Amino acid sequence: MIKNLIIFGTRPEAIKMAPLVNAFRTYSDEFETRVCVTAQHREMLDQVLDFFAIKPDFDLDLMKPNQNLYSLTSDIILGLKSVLEEFKPDYVYVHGDTTTTMAASISAFYSGAKVCHIEAGLRTHNKYSPFPEEMNRQVTGRIADFHFAPTTASQHNLLAENISSEKILVTGNTVIDALLESVVIVDKIENEEIDFLLKVIDSSKKIILVTGHRRENHGQGFINICEALKEIALQHPEVQIIYPVHLNPNVKKPVYEILSNISNIQLIDPLSYPAFVWLMKESYLIITDSGGVQEEAPSLGKPVLVLRDTTERPEAVEAGTVILVGTNKEKIVSETKKLLINFKHYTDMSALHNPYGDGSACKRIIEFIRENQ
Ligand code: UD1
Ligand code: UDP
Repeated sequence: MIKNLIIFGTRPEAIKMAPLVNAFRTYSDEFETRVCVTAQHREMLDQVLDFFAIKPDFDLDLMKPNQNLYSLTSDIILGLKSVLEEFKPDYVYVHGDTTTTMAASISAFYSGAKVCHIEAGLRTHNKYSPFPEEMNRQVTGRIADFHFAPTTASQHNLLAENISSEKILVTGNTVIDALLESVVIVDKIENEEIDFLLKVIDSSKKIILVTGHRRENHGQGFINICEALKEIALQHPEVQIIYPVHLNPNVKKPVYEILSNISNIQLIDPLSYPAFVWLMKESYLIITDSGGVQEEAPSLGKPVLVLRDTTERPEAVEAGTVILVGTNKEKIVSETKKLLINFKHYTDMSALHNPYGDGSACKRIIEFIRENQ
């Protein structure tokens, strides 16, 4: 029996690893699969675990208020020591570019397990953008034994770093596995948050959905973003901005200080995954700095303005769904206005594309592990 340990810690990793956990569980005659959460996030992680019905076998429960990168990294490495020594996995699976990803891959390497990197090979080649994610992903890529690249562009980035082609598999992004599984049920399920949104949403208005959290945008970047949203709301009474605010205090503080009490802006708590998918579907336009949302939006045909200067996800920009606007107030306001008044521009950006996958990424990952053990 092959022993798998799947490790994750934040909301996006959980969303993108949940389909893999559930897919591995259907092969329980071949694989003993356990889940370890670092709980780098707590409430936002638990929302995902609840929806996908995943009960972790190990929970390090590490999140601290306003945590810093130094102690988080060392806590993860130390916390994983006993889990790895107790379970002795053959394979450890990590996802993406968070501090959990990087620290877990170091711990797994120390333990002698083979490291499988899901969502491998995305690059900006700028170590400060996204910070610290670009270096987290590169470090994990140096350590990994197997690289599951979501697209051919990410595969090429890995080949350019002299990683052997037999160690790389292009799979599509597991986020599309999660999205396709969820999107078909969100209109049918009983969900209190969707009921709440139905009450809050003014159906005569166009919904602009906003999310944001990037560390490099903390401070002046978030102030600019909020000033832009305020101007959009005041200039365009025909829109309603709905903003599920990330729980990071460096985000919550400026957002609530600048955007509370504007009649067509609703600030709400982070939504569970099905409610967020439902809201994406209802939206006219999305403004975000999120990686995962950039990947989901093309499959839903929703235009996205990305609050970043660089992206390691060029495919959606090339497909025409995404425009990078950075944190420049004038640019955010003008690109939003263009999407509100120029119907052709809006229609062009709303075309359906699937650059990030077809919903079978997990199946491909499992087949690869079965063939390569
Ligand atoms: C983290 C990841 C980032 C990822 C993002 C997804 C790192 C360094 N950052 O950023 O790559 O894109 O998650 O959302 O790995 N908090 C809560 N409850 C929660 C979650 C967060 O209260 O459920 C608050 C806590 O005060 C916590 C703070 O947010 O200390 C920051 O969390 P952290 O994971 O360090 O950074 P994020 O900005 O969430
Ligand atoms: N998401 C969610 N609830 C929210 C906001 C986002 O479930 O209130 C989902 C979203 O669909 C995407 C993921 O969370 O799959 C993105 O997470 P986040 O933006 O925190 O991180 P990133 O993708 O930037 O690493």
